[in-house]
Amino acid sequence: MGWSKERLEEVARTRLGGAKLIVVANREPYIHRYKNGEVEWIRPAGGLTTALDPVMQACGGVWVAHGSGDADRAVTDASGRVGVPPDDPNYVLRRVWLSKDDEEGYYYGTANSMLWPLCHQVFARPVFDPKHWETYRRVNETFAQAVLEEAEGGPALVFVQDYHFALLPRLLKAARPDLVTAQFWHIPWPGPEKFLVCPWAKELLDGMLGNDLLGFHTQHDCNNFLDTVDRALECRIDRERFAVQRAGQSTTVRPFPISVDPALAQEYLGNDWEDRATALRKKHRLGDRPLIVGVDRVDYTKGIPERLQAVDRLLHKHPELKGQFHFVQVGAPSRTHIPAYRDLTEEVNALAEKINWEHGTEDWQPVVFLNEHHGPEDIFVLYRTAAGCIVSSLHDGMNLVAKEFVTARDDERGVLVLSQFTGAARELPDAVLVNPFDVEEMADGLHASLTMSGSEQERRMRRMRGQVDDHNIYRWAGMLLSEVGKRVPDPVSVSVPAAEPEVEEPEPIAAPTAQERRQEHHIARETYLTAMYLASAGV
Ligand code: G6P
Repeated sequence: MGWSKERLEEVARTRLGGAKLIVVANREPYIHRYKNGEVEWIRPAGGLTTALDPVMQACGGVWVAHGSGDADRAVTDASGRVGVPPDDPNYVLRRVWLSKDDEEGYYYGTANSMLWPLCHQVFARPVFDPKHWETYRRVNETFAQAVLEEAEGGPALVFVQDYHFALLPRLLKAARPDLVTAQFWHIPWPGPEKFLVCPWAKELLDGMLGNDLLGFHTQHDCNNFLDTVDRALECRIDRERFAVQRAGQSTTVRPFPISVDPALAQEYLGNDWEDRATALRKKHRLGDRPLIVGVDRVDYTKGIPERLQAVDRLLHKHPELKGQFHFVQVGAPSRTHIPAYRDLTEEVNALAEKINWEHGTEDWQPVVFLNEHHGPEDIFVLYRTAAGCIVSSLHDGMNLVAKEFVTARDDERGVLVLSQFTGAARELPDAVLVNPFDVEEMADGLHASLTMSGSEQERRMRRMRGQVDDHNIYRWAGMLLSEVGKRVPDPVSVSVPAAEPEVEEPEPIAAPTAQERRQEHHIARETYLTAMYLASAGV
Protein backbone atom coordinates (compact mmCIF):
# COMPACT_ATOMS: atom_id res chain seq x y z
CA MET A 1 0.00 0.00 0.00
CA GLY A 2 1.33 3.44 -0.91
CA TRP A 3 1.78 6.24 1.57
CA SER A 4 -0.87 8.95 1.64
CA LYS A 5 -1.94 11.73 3.93
CA GLU A 6 -4.68 9.44 5.30
CA ARG A 7 -2.28 6.61 6.05
CA LEU A 8 0.03 9.02 7.89
CA GLU A 9 -2.92 10.31 9.92
CA GLU A 10 -3.66 6.72 10.92
CA VAL A 11 -0.03 6.04 11.87
CA ALA A 12 0.12 9.28 13.87
CA ARG A 13 -3.03 8.27 15.76
CA THR A 14 -1.81 4.77 16.57
CA ARG A 15 1.83 5.58 17.18
CA LEU A 16 1.38 8.75 19.19
CA GLY A 17 -1.47 7.44 21.30
CA GLY A 18 -2.36 10.37 23.55
CA ALA A 19 1.05 12.04 23.14
CA LYS A 20 1.15 15.53 21.71
CA LEU A 21 3.30 16.16 18.63
CA ILE A 22 5.52 19.21 19.00
CA VAL A 23 7.70 20.15 16.03
CA VAL A 24 10.52 22.62 16.61
CA ALA A 25 12.03 24.36 13.58
CA ASN A 26 13.65 27.76 13.39
CA ARG A 27 11.79 28.72 10.22
CA GLU A 28 8.04 29.14 10.52
CA PRO A 29 5.78 27.64 7.85
CA TYR A 30 3.81 30.88 7.39
CA ILE A 31 5.16 34.40 7.77
CA HIS A 32 2.88 37.37 8.31
CA ARG A 33 4.15 40.68 6.97
CA TYR A 34 2.89 44.15 6.18
CA LYS A 35 2.40 45.12 2.57
CA ASN A 36 0.99 48.55 1.79
CA GLY A 37 -0.29 48.80 5.36
CA GLU A 38 -2.19 45.47 5.15
CA VAL A 39 -1.22 42.15 6.77
CA GLU A 40 -0.48 39.40 4.25
CA TRP A 41 1.02 35.95 4.70
CA ILE A 42 3.60 34.11 2.61
CA ARG A 43 5.21 30.70 2.57
CA PRO A 44 8.99 31.01 3.00
CA ALA A 45 11.45 29.58 0.45
CA GLY A 46 13.36 26.48 1.55
CA GLY A 47 12.89 22.76 1.67
CA LEU A 48 12.26 22.32 5.37
CA THR A 49 8.94 24.14 5.57
CA THR A 50 7.82 22.74 2.20
CA ALA A 51 8.30 19.24 3.56
CA LEU A 52 7.03 19.64 7.12
CA ASP A 53 3.85 21.64 6.57
CA PRO A 54 1.90 18.79 4.87
CA VAL A 55 3.03 16.47 7.68
CA MET A 56 1.69 18.83 10.33
CA GLN A 57 -1.52 19.24 8.38
CA ALA A 58 -1.93 15.46 8.50
CA CYS A 59 -0.87 14.88 12.12
CA GLY A 60 -1.91 18.10 13.91
CA GLY A 61 -0.03 19.45 16.91
CA VAL A 62 2.16 22.48 17.56
CA TRP A 63 5.01 23.92 15.49
CA VAL A 64 7.39 26.04 17.59
CA ALA A 65 9.37 28.52 15.47
CA HIS A 66 11.03 31.90 15.43
CA GLY A 67 8.42 34.59 14.69
CA SER A 68 10.33 36.43 11.97
CA GLY A 69 7.66 38.41 10.07
CA ASP A 70 7.09 42.10 10.83
CA ALA A 71 3.34 41.43 11.22
CA ASP A 72 3.74 38.15 13.14
CA ARG A 73 2.88 39.68 16.52
CA ALA A 74 -0.22 41.34 15.12
CA VAL A 75 -1.98 38.02 14.53
CA THR A 76 -0.94 35.90 17.54
CA ASP A 77 -2.41 35.60 21.03
CA ALA A 78 -0.54 36.65 24.18
CA SER A 79 1.57 33.47 24.22
CA GLY A 80 2.53 33.76 20.55
CA ARG A 81 0.03 31.19 19.22
CA VAL A 82 -1.85 31.34 15.95
CA GLY A 83 -3.75 28.72 13.93
CA VAL A 84 -2.32 27.81 10.52
CA PRO A 85 -2.60 27.50 7.54
CA PRO A 86 -3.97 31.04 7.85
CA ASP A 87 -6.77 30.40 5.33
CA ASP A 88 -7.90 27.09 6.90
CA PRO A 89 -6.25 26.46 10.29
CA ASN A 90 -5.65 22.88 11.42
CA TYR A 91 -2.57 23.07 13.61
CA VAL A 92 -0.96 25.59 15.95
CA LEU A 93 2.06 27.75 15.25
CA ARG A 94 3.74 28.91 18.46
CA ARG A 95 6.03 31.83 17.73
CA VAL A 96 9.13 32.49 19.82
CA TRP A 97 10.33 36.09 19.81
CA LEU A 98 14.04 36.74 19.44
CA SER A 99 15.98 39.99 19.84
CA LYS A 100 18.33 41.26 17.13
CA ASP A 101 21.28 40.13 19.26
CA ASP A 102 19.74 36.66 19.50
CA GLU A 103 19.31 36.49 15.73
CA GLU A 104 22.81 37.77 15.15
CA GLY A 105 24.56 35.19 17.35
CA TYR A 106 22.24 32.19 16.95
CA TYR A 107 20.82 32.33 13.40
CA TYR A 108 23.30 34.39 11.36
CA GLY A 109 26.26 33.44 13.55
CA THR A 110 26.47 29.88 14.88
CA ALA A 111 23.81 28.31 12.66
CA ASN A 112 24.56 29.93 9.32
CA SER A 113 28.16 31.15 9.54
CA MET A 114 29.54 28.19 11.51
CA LEU A 115 27.44 25.02 11.15
CA TRP A 116 26.21 25.63 7.58
CA PRO A 117 29.69 25.90 6.00
CA LEU A 118 31.04 23.26 8.40
CA CYS A 119 28.53 20.69 7.17
CA HIS A 120 28.69 21.46 3.42
CA GLN A 121 31.71 20.77 1.21
CA VAL A 122 31.82 24.17 -0.44
CA PHE A 123 35.16 25.68 0.61
CA ALA A 124 33.52 28.40 2.68
CA ARG A 125 35.39 28.98 5.90
CA PRO A 126 33.25 28.49 9.03
CA VAL A 127 33.27 31.34 11.58
CA PHE A 128 34.00 30.17 15.13
CA ASP A 129 32.93 33.05 17.37
CA PRO A 130 32.54 32.45 21.14
CA LYS A 131 29.97 35.26 21.44
CA HIS A 132 27.84 33.68 18.72
CA TRP A 133 28.16 30.36 20.47
CA GLU A 134 27.01 31.80 23.82
CA THR A 135 23.93 33.21 22.07
CA TYR A 136 23.24 29.89 20.32
CA ARG A 137 23.26 28.20 23.72
CA ARG A 138 20.94 30.80 25.17
CA VAL A 139 18.47 30.64 22.27
CA ASN A 140 18.38 26.84 22.48
CA GLU A 141 17.37 27.35 26.14
CA THR A 142 14.69 29.85 25.12
CA PHE A 143 13.20 27.31 22.72
CA ALA A 144 13.46 24.56 25.36
CA GLN A 145 11.37 26.75 27.64
CA ALA A 146 8.69 27.23 24.97
CA VAL A 147 8.60 23.48 24.21
CA LEU A 148 8.32 22.60 27.90
CA GLU A 149 5.36 24.95 28.22
CA GLU A 150 3.69 23.32 25.23
CA ALA A 151 4.37 19.84 26.63
CA GLU A 152 3.14 20.60 30.13
CA GLY A 153 0.89 18.09 31.79
CA GLY A 154 1.14 15.14 29.43
CA PRO A 155 3.23 12.88 27.21
CA ALA A 156 4.71 14.42 24.09
CA LEU A 157 6.89 13.57 21.13
CA VAL A 158 9.19 16.48 20.33
CA PHE A 159 10.43 16.43 16.76
CA VAL A 160 13.37 18.83 16.46
CA GLN A 161 14.53 20.11 13.06
CA ASP A 162 18.00 20.85 11.88
CA TYR A 163 21.25 22.49 12.87
CA HIS A 164 19.67 25.44 14.68
CA PHE A 165 18.88 23.20 17.65
CA ALA A 166 21.74 20.79 18.29
CA LEU A 167 21.62 21.50 22.03
CA LEU A 168 17.85 21.35 22.45
CA PRO A 169 17.30 17.56 22.76
CA ARG A 170 19.69 17.27 25.72
CA LEU A 171 18.08 20.28 27.46
CA LEU A 172 14.64 18.74 27.02
CA LYS A 173 15.67 15.32 28.31
CA ALA A 174 17.34 16.88 31.35
CA ALA A 175 14.14 18.74 32.24
CA ARG A 176 11.63 16.01 31.24
CA PRO A 177 13.20 12.55 30.89
CA ASP A 178 9.78 11.19 29.87
CA LEU A 179 9.64 13.26 26.68
CA VAL A 180 10.35 11.31 23.51
CA THR A 181 12.77 13.28 21.33
CA ALA A 182 13.66 12.88 17.67
CA GLN A 183 15.72 15.15 15.47
CA PHE A 184 16.10 15.37 11.74
CA TRP A 185 19.28 16.97 10.41
CA HIS A 186 18.29 18.46 7.06
CA ILE A 187 21.84 19.18 5.86
CA PRO A 188 24.77 16.82 5.24
CA TRP A 189 27.02 15.58 8.04
CA PRO A 190 30.73 15.89 7.22
CA GLY A 191 33.52 13.44 8.00
CA PRO A 192 35.10 13.59 11.47
CA GLU A 193 38.25 15.38 10.35
CA LYS A 194 36.19 18.30 9.19
CA PHE A 195 33.62 18.44 11.99
CA LEU A 196 36.10 18.09 14.80
CA VAL A 197 37.88 21.36 14.01
CA CYS A 198 34.85 23.01 15.68
CA PRO A 199 35.82 24.14 19.20
CA TRP A 200 32.37 23.15 20.50
CA ALA A 201 32.13 19.85 18.66
CA LYS A 202 31.74 17.73 21.81
CA GLU A 203 28.96 19.90 23.21
CA LEU A 204 27.10 19.78 19.90
CA LEU A 205 27.39 16.01 19.74
CA ASP A 206 26.35 15.61 23.36
CA GLY A 207 23.28 17.76 22.71
CA MET A 208 22.26 15.65 19.73
CA LEU A 209 22.72 12.45 21.69
CA GLY A 210 19.89 13.64 23.93
CA ASN A 211 17.67 12.28 21.13
CA ASP A 212 15.98 8.91 21.06
CA LEU A 213 16.15 9.00 17.28
CA LEU A 214 18.39 11.01 15.00
CA GLY A 215 17.71 11.07 11.27
CA PHE A 216 19.83 12.10 8.29
CA HIS A 217 19.06 11.97 4.57
CA THR A 218 21.55 9.26 3.61
CA GLN A 219 23.41 6.31 5.05
CA HIS A 220 26.62 8.17 4.20
CA ASP A 221 25.62 11.03 6.56
CA CYS A 222 24.76 8.50 9.30
CA ASN A 223 28.12 6.80 8.91
CA ASN A 224 29.92 10.16 9.08
CA PHE A 225 28.00 11.03 12.24
CA LEU A 226 28.82 7.71 13.93
CA ASP A 227 32.50 8.07 12.97
CA THR A 228 32.52 11.60 14.41
CA VAL A 229 30.96 10.48 17.70
CA ASP A 230 33.35 7.53 17.84
CA ARG A 231 36.35 9.84 17.58
CA ALA A 232 35.10 12.52 19.96
CA LEU A 233 33.21 10.92 22.84
CA GLU A 234 33.34 8.03 25.28
CA CYS A 235 30.43 5.87 24.22
CA ARG A 236 29.41 2.51 22.79
CA ILE A 237 28.48 2.36 19.15
CA ASP A 238 26.34 -0.53 18.02
CA ARG A 239 26.95 -0.67 14.28
CA GLU A 240 24.51 -3.53 13.81
CA ARG A 241 21.62 -1.50 15.15
CA PHE A 242 22.98 1.90 14.21
CA ALA A 243 22.74 3.15 17.79
CA VAL A 244 24.92 5.09 20.20
CA GLN A 245 24.80 4.19 23.90
CA ARG A 246 25.94 6.87 26.28
CA ALA A 247 25.25 7.58 29.96
CA GLY A 248 22.20 5.32 30.06
CA GLN A 249 20.67 6.80 26.91
CA SER A 250 20.40 5.15 23.54
CA THR A 251 20.17 7.15 20.29
CA THR A 252 19.20 5.36 17.09
CA VAL A 253 20.82 6.92 13.98
CA ARG A 254 19.02 6.16 10.70
CA PRO A 255 18.62 7.51 7.16
CA PHE A 256 15.23 8.95 6.17
CA PRO A 257 15.44 10.61 2.73
CA ILE A 258 13.03 13.54 2.84
CA SER A 259 10.54 14.26 0.06
CA VAL A 260 7.53 16.30 -1.05
CA ASP A 261 3.77 15.89 -1.35
CA PRO A 262 3.25 15.04 -5.06
CA ALA A 263 -0.43 16.08 -4.88
CA LEU A 264 0.50 19.70 -4.20
CA ALA A 265 1.69 20.21 -7.79
CA GLN A 266 -1.85 19.98 -9.10
CA GLU A 267 -3.09 22.25 -6.34
CA TYR A 268 -0.56 24.96 -7.19
CA LEU A 269 -1.02 24.58 -10.94
CA GLY A 270 -4.82 24.67 -10.84
CA ASN A 271 -6.78 24.76 -14.08
CA ASP A 272 -5.41 28.08 -15.24
CA TRP A 273 -1.67 27.43 -15.22
CA GLU A 274 -1.41 27.94 -18.98
CA ASP A 275 -2.87 31.44 -18.70
CA ARG A 276 -0.52 32.22 -15.85
CA ALA A 277 2.41 30.86 -17.87
CA THR A 278 1.49 33.16 -20.76
CA ALA A 279 1.32 36.16 -18.39
CA LEU A 280 4.68 35.26 -16.87
CA ARG A 281 6.30 34.91 -20.29
CA LYS A 282 4.90 38.27 -21.31
CA LYS A 283 6.05 39.99 -18.12
CA HIS A 284 9.64 38.79 -18.54
CA ARG A 285 9.75 39.01 -22.35
CA LEU A 286 10.34 35.27 -22.80
CA GLY A 287 8.39 34.90 -26.05
CA ASP A 288 7.61 31.25 -26.69
CA ARG A 289 11.21 30.10 -26.44
CA PRO A 290 12.13 26.98 -24.44
CA LEU A 291 13.09 27.74 -20.85
CA ILE A 292 15.67 26.22 -18.56
CA VAL A 293 14.83 27.11 -14.98
CA GLY A 294 16.73 27.20 -11.72
CA VAL A 295 14.90 27.76 -8.43
CA ASP A 296 16.94 28.34 -5.29
CA ARG A 297 17.55 30.50 -2.29
CA VAL A 298 20.57 32.59 -3.25
CA ASP A 299 23.03 30.47 -1.28
CA TYR A 300 26.65 29.63 -2.02
CA THR A 301 25.96 25.91 -1.66
CA LYS A 302 23.59 25.95 -4.65
CA GLY A 303 26.20 26.45 -7.39
CA ILE A 304 24.40 29.37 -9.07
CA PRO A 305 27.55 31.05 -10.48
CA GLU A 306 28.66 27.64 -11.75
CA ARG A 307 25.43 27.14 -13.69
CA LEU A 308 25.68 30.65 -15.18
CA GLN A 309 29.19 29.82 -16.33
CA ALA A 310 27.71 26.72 -17.91
CA VAL A 311 25.16 28.86 -19.78
CA ASP A 312 28.03 31.00 -21.05
CA ARG A 313 29.99 27.90 -22.10
CA LEU A 314 26.90 26.46 -23.82
CA LEU A 315 26.52 29.60 -25.91
CA HIS A 316 30.20 29.47 -26.90
CA LYS A 317 30.02 25.77 -27.78
CA HIS A 318 26.69 26.03 -29.58
CA PRO A 319 26.31 29.51 -31.08
CA GLU A 320 23.34 28.16 -33.04
CA LEU A 321 21.41 28.25 -29.75
CA LYS A 322 21.66 32.03 -29.51
CA GLY A 323 18.18 33.51 -29.43
CA GLN A 324 16.72 30.01 -29.01
CA PHE A 325 16.13 29.71 -25.24
CA HIS A 326 16.15 31.57 -21.92
CA PHE A 327 17.74 30.56 -18.68
CA VAL A 328 15.42 31.77 -15.87
CA GLN A 329 16.88 31.81 -12.39
CA VAL A 330 14.47 32.37 -9.52
CA GLY A 331 16.74 33.41 -6.67
CA ALA A 332 14.92 34.02 -3.41
CA PRO A 333 16.96 36.41 -1.25
CA SER A 334 18.32 34.51 1.74
CA ARG A 335 20.38 35.36 4.86
CA THR A 336 21.38 38.65 3.23
CA HIS A 337 22.70 39.98 6.53
CA ILE A 338 25.71 37.65 6.10
CA PRO A 339 28.44 39.17 3.88
CA ALA A 340 29.03 35.91 1.95
CA TYR A 341 25.36 35.91 0.86
CA ARG A 342 25.39 39.59 -0.11
CA ASP A 343 28.60 39.06 -2.10
CA LEU A 344 27.02 36.08 -3.85
CA THR A 345 23.97 38.11 -4.93
CA GLU A 346 26.31 40.70 -6.41
CA GLU A 347 28.35 38.01 -8.12
CA VAL A 348 25.25 36.44 -9.68
CA ASN A 349 23.96 39.85 -10.85
CA ALA A 350 27.34 40.70 -12.35
CA LEU A 351 27.65 37.33 -14.11
CA ALA A 352 24.13 37.55 -15.54
CA GLU A 353 24.86 41.05 -16.80
CA LYS A 354 28.15 39.94 -18.37
CA ILE A 355 26.56 36.98 -20.17
CA ASN A 356 23.65 39.07 -21.41
CA TRP A 357 26.05 41.78 -22.60
CA GLU A 358 28.22 39.31 -24.47
CA HIS A 359 25.59 37.08 -26.05
CA GLY A 360 22.32 39.01 -25.87
CA THR A 361 20.67 41.15 -28.51
CA GLU A 362 18.16 43.96 -28.35
CA ASP A 363 15.24 41.54 -28.12
CA TRP A 364 16.83 38.50 -26.53
CA GLN A 365 18.54 38.18 -23.14
CA PRO A 366 19.78 34.67 -22.40
CA VAL A 367 19.71 35.06 -18.59
CA VAL A 368 16.72 36.30 -16.61
CA PHE A 369 17.55 36.62 -12.91
CA LEU A 370 14.44 37.04 -10.73
CA ASN A 371 15.97 38.02 -7.41
CA GLU A 372 12.82 38.17 -5.29
CA HIS A 373 10.53 35.92 -3.31
CA HIS A 374 8.09 33.89 -5.47
CA GLY A 375 5.23 31.80 -4.13
CA PRO A 376 4.71 28.15 -5.17
CA GLU A 377 1.91 29.19 -7.55
CA ASP A 378 4.49 30.97 -9.76
CA ILE A 379 7.25 28.42 -9.28
CA PHE A 380 5.12 25.44 -10.30
CA VAL A 381 4.04 27.26 -13.46
CA LEU A 382 7.72 27.67 -14.32
CA TYR A 383 8.43 23.99 -13.60
CA ARG A 384 5.49 22.92 -15.73
CA THR A 385 6.34 25.10 -18.71
CA ALA A 386 10.13 24.59 -18.76
CA ALA A 387 12.13 22.39 -21.11
CA GLY A 388 14.52 21.68 -18.29
CA CYS A 389 15.31 22.38 -14.65
CA ILE A 390 18.86 22.60 -13.33
CA VAL A 391 19.88 21.84 -9.76
CA SER A 392 23.64 22.34 -9.52
CA SER A 393 24.27 22.36 -5.76
CA LEU A 394 27.93 21.95 -4.86
CA HIS A 395 26.70 19.87 -1.92
CA ASP A 396 23.12 19.43 -0.71
CA GLY A 397 21.54 17.16 1.90
CA MET A 398 18.61 16.29 -0.38
CA ASN A 399 17.31 19.19 -2.57
CA LEU A 400 13.56 19.27 -2.93
CA VAL A 401 13.48 21.48 -6.04
CA ALA A 402 14.53 18.40 -8.00
CA LYS A 403 11.59 16.42 -6.61
CA GLU A 404 9.11 19.28 -6.96
CA PHE A 405 10.02 19.67 -10.64
CA VAL A 406 9.29 16.01 -11.24
CA THR A 407 5.89 16.21 -9.51
CA ALA A 408 4.90 19.15 -11.73
CA ARG A 409 5.43 17.14 -14.96
CA ASP A 410 2.24 15.17 -15.43
CA ASP A 411 2.96 15.54 -19.18
CA GLU A 412 6.02 13.25 -18.61
CA ARG A 413 8.24 15.77 -20.35
CA GLY A 414 11.07 17.97 -19.15
CA VAL A 415 14.69 17.20 -18.36
CA LEU A 416 16.16 17.36 -14.87
CA VAL A 417 19.85 18.27 -14.81
CA LEU A 418 20.99 17.31 -11.33
CA SER A 419 24.21 17.67 -9.36
CA GLN A 420 25.66 14.33 -8.34
CA PHE A 421 26.48 15.87 -4.93
CA THR A 422 22.85 16.10 -3.80
CA GLY A 423 20.99 13.50 -1.74
CA ALA A 424 18.36 13.54 -4.50
CA ALA A 425 20.86 12.18 -7.05
CA ARG A 426 20.86 8.85 -5.20
CA GLU A 427 17.12 8.52 -5.67
CA LEU A 428 16.83 9.99 -9.16
CA PRO A 429 19.44 8.28 -11.35
CA ASP A 430 17.25 9.04 -14.38
CA ALA A 431 18.14 12.70 -14.15
CA VAL A 432 21.06 13.95 -16.25
CA LEU A 433 23.66 13.76 -13.49
CA VAL A 434 26.47 16.31 -13.58
CA ASN A 435 29.46 17.42 -11.57
CA PRO A 436 28.71 21.10 -10.85
CA PHE A 437 32.43 21.90 -10.64
CA ASP A 438 32.88 20.70 -14.24
CA VAL A 439 31.74 23.53 -16.51
CA GLU A 440 32.04 21.42 -19.65
CA GLU A 441 29.84 18.64 -18.28
CA MET A 442 27.31 21.20 -17.02
CA ALA A 443 27.16 22.88 -20.44
CA ASP A 444 26.55 19.45 -22.00
CA GLY A 445 23.81 18.81 -19.43
CA LEU A 446 22.10 22.07 -20.41
CA HIS A 447 22.46 21.11 -24.05
CA ALA A 448 20.80 17.76 -23.33
CA SER A 449 17.90 19.55 -21.66
CA LEU A 450 17.25 21.45 -24.91
CA THR A 451 17.78 18.57 -27.33
CA MET A 452 16.70 15.29 -25.69
CA SER A 453 14.13 13.36 -27.70
CA GLY A 454 10.54 13.27 -26.45
CA SER A 455 10.62 9.49 -25.95
CA GLU A 456 13.80 9.66 -23.89
CA GLN A 457 12.35 12.46 -21.75
CA GLU A 458 9.25 10.39 -21.19
CA ARG A 459 11.18 7.26 -20.25
CA ARG A 460 13.24 9.11 -17.66
CA MET A 461 10.44 11.31 -16.30
CA ARG A 462 8.08 8.38 -15.85
CA ARG A 463 10.60 6.56 -13.68
CA MET A 464 11.42 9.68 -11.65
CA ARG A 465 7.74 10.40 -11.07
CA GLY A 466 7.19 6.80 -9.92
CA GLN A 467 10.05 7.14 -7.45
CA VAL A 468 8.78 10.42 -5.94
CA ASP A 469 5.17 9.16 -5.85
CA ASP A 470 6.22 6.12 -3.81
CA HIS A 471 8.84 7.85 -1.67
CA ASN A 472 6.73 10.85 -0.76
CA ILE A 473 6.74 13.04 2.35
CA TYR A 474 4.05 10.92 4.05
CA ARG A 475 6.26 7.88 3.81
CA TRP A 476 9.18 9.88 5.28
CA ALA A 477 7.11 11.03 8.24
CA GLY A 478 5.42 7.63 8.62
CA MET A 479 8.77 5.82 8.80
CA LEU A 480 10.10 8.30 11.34
CA LEU A 481 6.98 8.14 13.49
CA SER A 482 6.88 4.36 13.35
CA GLU A 483 10.49 4.19 14.50
CA VAL A 484 10.32 6.76 17.27
CA GLY A 485 6.75 5.86 18.21
CA LYS A 486 8.14 2.67 19.75
CA ARG A 487 9.39 4.86 22.58
CA VAL A 488 6.12 6.70 23.16
CA PRO A 489 4.49 5.28 26.30
CA ASP A 490 1.26 3.30 25.88
CA PRO A 491 0.49 3.69 22.21
CA VAL A 492 -3.10 2.72 21.53
CA SER A 493 -2.92 -0.75 20.09
CA VAL A 494 -4.59 -0.20 16.73
CA SER A 495 -2.63 -1.94 14.03
CA VAL A 496 -0.67 -0.05 11.42
CA PRO A 497 -1.59 -1.08 7.83
CA ALA A 498 0.51 -4.17 7.30
CA ALA A 499 1.31 -4.16 3.61
CA GLU A 500 4.87 -2.98 4.27
CA PRO A 501 7.08 -3.57 7.29
CA GLU A 502 6.43 -0.77 9.79
CA VAL A 503 9.98 0.36 9.66
CA GLU A 504 12.36 -0.38 6.87
CA GLU A 505 15.66 -1.80 7.81
CA PRO A 506 18.41 0.75 7.18
CA GLU A 507 19.84 0.45 3.68
CA PRO A 508 22.50 -2.23 3.91
CA ILE A 509 25.92 -0.79 3.35
CA ALA A 510 26.30 -2.47 -0.01
CA ALA A 511 29.43 -2.27 -2.08
CA PRO A 512 29.36 1.23 -3.58
CA THR A 513 28.58 1.65 -7.26
CA ALA A 514 31.21 3.18 -9.54
CA GLN A 515 29.44 6.50 -9.36
CA GLU A 516 29.22 6.37 -5.56
CA ARG A 517 32.91 5.50 -5.42
CA ARG A 518 33.68 8.58 -7.50
CA GLN A 519 31.49 10.69 -5.25
CA GLU A 520 32.97 9.28 -2.02
CA HIS A 521 36.41 9.83 -3.43
CA HIS A 522 35.48 13.38 -4.34
CA ILE A 523 34.07 14.06 -0.87
CA ALA A 524 37.05 12.46 0.89
CA ARG A 525 39.40 14.55 -1.21
CA GLU A 526 37.46 17.75 -0.49
CA THR A 527 37.38 16.91 3.22
CA TYR A 528 41.11 16.49 3.20
CA LEU A 529 41.64 19.73 1.27
CA THR A 530 39.30 21.63 3.58
CA ALA A 531 41.06 20.28 6.67
CA MET A 532 44.41 21.27 5.19
CA TYR A 533 43.04 24.69 4.38
CA LEU A 534 41.66 25.18 7.89
CA ALA A 535 44.92 23.93 9.41
CA SER A 536 47.01 26.26 7.26
CA ALA A 537 44.69 29.14 8.13
CA GLY A 538 45.44 28.43 11.79
CA VAL A 539 41.92 27.34 12.72
C1 G6P B 1 17.80 24.66 4.45
C2 G6P B 1 17.89 24.35 5.92
C3 G6P B 1 16.59 24.74 6.62
C4 G6P B 1 16.21 26.14 6.32
C5 G6P B 1 16.15 26.36 4.80
C6 G6P B 1 15.85 27.82 4.45
O1 G6P B 1 16.90 23.81 3.83
O2 G6P B 1 18.17 23.00 6.13
O3 G6P B 1 16.71 24.60 8.01
O4 G6P B 1 14.99 26.49 6.90
O5 G6P B 1 17.39 26.00 4.24
O6 G6P B 1 16.76 28.68 5.05
P1 G6P B 1 16.35 29.76 6.14
O7 G6P B 1 17.64 30.17 6.77
O8 G6P B 1 15.68 30.84 5.36
O9 G6P B 1 15.40 29.13 7.11
